[in-house]
Amino acid sequence: DTKQAAKEQKVIKVGTEPTFAPFEFQEKGSKEFTGFDMDLARAIGKKLGKKVEIQNMGFDALIPALNSGNIDVAAAGMSITDERKKAVTFSDPYYTSGLVVVVTKDNDGVKSIKDLEGKKIAVQIGTTGADKAGKVPGAKVTSFNTNAEVFLELENKGVDAVIIDKPVAQYYLIKEGKDKDKIVGDTMDAESYGFAFKKDSKLAADFNKALAELKKDGEYDKIYTKWFGK
Ligand code: ARG
Repeated sequence: DTKQAAKEQKVIKVGTEPTFAPFEFQEKGSKEFTGFDMDLARAIGKKLGKKVEIQNMGFDALIPALNSGNIDVAAAGMSITDERKKAVTFSDPYYTSGLVVVVTKDNDGVKSIKDLEGKKIAVQIGTTGADKAGKVPGAKVTSFNTNAEVFLELENKGVDAVIIDKPVAQYYLIKEGKDKDKIVGDTMDAESYGFAFKKDSKLAADFNKALAELKKDGEYDKIYTKWFGK
């Protein structure tokens, strides 16, 4: 057993889809992964005495990559859902979120999701936002690989609305979409983000332990404040 432990990998392979600021993104012209999830994953790796290596992949490729062993953990603002729990093991929740509708500023016809019946909606492929859009009666839903494309489609008037996670919409509005877009209606579907692992991976328990320590020693709060303010 001790021999086995010594052989245990010293590297944690983390998969992410980095068009989800402020959770995971790359600054223009940089290959560096930055954001709340990235800081948290690195802090957890440090606690566990392991090196964290981050890989860029499609959001819909994360769960298959976990199951094939290509990555050890998905750190991607992934909402803990019953459906996903059938395929992967989640860590304890580390962030509380929800979905919102985003439209262009000049759109006075859409005040909430109820006004999206029969309308065109853009979403990121494989997300809870895509599931939500799929339930709107008569809506024509277009899925994109990245959220950059999702917002571009909205601003090019290819769609009437976007359904996406609230903190990501808020950050986008502050950084880029301030004069172009707005959030309408209430926050829908309370969701919690968790790190995802191959089913029954032992790493999940290690992550939970490290996460609890980070919450206790104030490091989690420091990272939270860095990205979301007080
Ligand atoms: N929270 C949503 C979900 O789990 C969206 C996550 C998108 N994450 C990303 N890194 N693009 O479906």
